[in-house]
Amino acid sequence: MDKLKIAVLISGSGTNLQALIDACKNPDYPAEIVMVLSNKPSAPGLSRAKKAGIETCVINHKDYPTREDFDKAMDVTIRASGAQFVCMAGFMRILSEWFVDQWYDKLINIHPSLLPSFKGVDGQKQALEAGVKIAGCTVHFVRKEMDSGPIIAQAAVPIESGDTVESLTAKILEQEHKCYPLALELVASGKAKIINEIVVIG
Ligand code: GRF
Repeated sequence: MDKLKIAVLISGSGTNLQALIDACKNPDYPAEIVMVLSNKPSAPGLSRAKKAGIETCVINHKDYPTREDFDKAMDVTIRASGAQFVCMAGFMRILSEWFVDQWYDKLINIHPSLLPSFKGVDGQKQALEAGVKIAGCTVHFVRKEMDSGPIIAQAAVPIESGDTVESLTAKILEQEHKCYPLALELVASGKAKIINEIVVIG
């Protein structure tokens, strides 16, 4: 099977990266991770990649004068790795329009809310403050507007009385770890197609 070669962008703990690494261990899974790139040298997720024998790279955004300069350095590195597709997994940088254009329809992200609700940081806190009874996570293609783009998969999580940002974050994260590998599988296998900016599973 020709597997889709993936670069994963991280900034932090990398638990979603771990879920993708674990999914890729299945010989029938249609994707393989060829590189993990972090903008933070201390990101714990880098150790997860190393442990799995995956090439890692740190490109510190602080070393670049503009967002686009940083994104161009990432683009060169990602292409050199042979990656054909990019997964953002807790990558805490807003991408330039230039980068999004380079990887149009080949760039996905996971967000801890049921988009289009609660975009931006602290999606879990926003959900609690809004008093909604159902929260969740979303895996979506990336477009230039933040936290927007065709939705591939979502998972819902009930908010119960007594839930805190911490407890809700943990419940959502548990679903993220199922949702992200599933969404990537749909895309990498060619089952998920974008038609008029809506993902259709065929
Ligand atoms: C996740 O909640 C993800 O949805 C958000 O950042 C968090 C990353 O967690 N974009 P991890 O680094 O994968 O553990």
